Amino acid sequence: MAPISRVVRIVIGRAGLQRYLTALLFTALTLGAVSPAIAQEVLDPNPVVGSPAQDPQRNSNGLAQTPPMGWNSWNKFACNVNEKVIRDTADAIAWNGMKDAGYQYIVIDDCWHGQRDADGFITADKARFPNGIKALADYIHAKGLKFGIYSDAGAKTCGGRPGSQGHEYQDALQYARWGVDYLKYDWCSTGTRNAEEAYTLMSDALRASGRPILFSMCEWGNAKPWLWAAKVGNLWRTTGDITARWEGKHGYSLGITTIVDFNEPLWPYAGPGHWNDPDMLEVGNGDLTAAEYRSHFALWSLMAAPLIAGNDVATMSQQTRDILLNRDVIAVNQDAAGVQGHRVWKQGDLEVWSKPLADGGRAVILWNRGTQPASITADWGMLGYPRSLKLNARDLWAHKELGQKAGSYAATVGAHDVVMITLRS
Ligand code: GLA
Repeated sequence: MAPISRVVRIVIGRAGLQRYLTALLFTALTLGAVSPAIAQEVLDPNPVVGSPAQDPQRNSNGLAQTPPMGWNSWNKFACNVNEKVIRDTADAIAWNGMKDAGYQYIVIDDCWHGQRDADGFITADKARFPNGIKALADYIHAKGLKFGIYSDAGAKTCGGRPGSQGHEYQDALQYARWGVDYLKYDWCSTGTRNAEEAYTLMSDALRASGRPILFSMCEWGNAKPWLWAAKVGNLWRTTGDITARWEGKHGYSLGITTIVDFNEPLWPYAGPGHWNDPDMLEVGNGDLTAAEYRSHFALWSLMAAPLIAGNDVATMSQQTRDILLNRDVIAVNQDAAGVQGHRVWKQGDLEVWSKPLADGGRAVILWNRGTQPASITADWGMLGYPRSLKLNARDLWAHKELGQKAGSYAATVGAHDVVMITLRS
């Protein structure tokens, strides 16, 4: 005799059977005879487990194997961007040594936008960018540099320009046509939108565009992107906006030491292709001391943070240049192991930080957050080395070999300053 299910299928057909089973399950659920989990299993035998962002089948886009380096217009120029500012910056980066040191992406932040055209495609502000974005991207590419742009997951950007919500695939396609290599994607006017959904949608749209576009997520850390975004974006902001101040909260913006303390504990979540972003550099902006700018750059480098300069690079001082172009420090940031360095010792204002390097060495920062010079010691034990080990030390700001050290390294560190060394066997 044919099994009952086959008889039913023959009588009412496959779709009818599905409807019949659904109705049966619904009744069983209502009566409490079947648990919702079992009902779900019967109705959808292949459910997606977890969110699309964490789908085990999902791959990362393969970009940003080391922290991205470049320049962004916001910290210095805010909404005052135009074609000339971006071209002058690209010219400067191409000749002043920054390109050779690794700075690659020239990113226009907010306020480049015009309106959407009749088909919904985004256009540039014609007064600010009379030659259009494609011509600007070509100009930057001709200098051997890469080009980045900015949008927002909401209806409007933070500067009130058109956002990408509802136009994600169309915008990604437009960026690809223009030759965009990097998208910074902000989080203003998003209301109750779910961050994981919104960023995954744009991540997919960028991939569907057919052009490799690095994806910089600017969600300020609200939805803890470090927990879910490794295969969605290449970097994610961990805090609110940086401002060129040493410490504290200033409205929505945060000083350097405040950002450091937010970003430091997130170190296990960073790695090649996916980085914690404590925001763009303020080296050369504001009126911090040379020591403070050095600390800022050294800590960002050791934390494997994106090194996105935010100053006027066409007119920068020698002091700013010496910091941004310190190749010994940049090499620590760009180390192939891609480990985010972190604090290994703290006593009051004095701290020791360590970053394991690909060759087994360590980059070490002795940081004095206090206002008086102080002696700080990095003990090999703090760095995970046996005390008996002899290691060659190099001072990364003096660019000097310090000879062989055993057990520990001590130095006097100025107020708000760092000593930064590498240790190698
Ligand atoms: C937000 C971002 C900033 C910048 C501005 C632009 O505040 O966090 O980095 O992009 O928007 O309006």
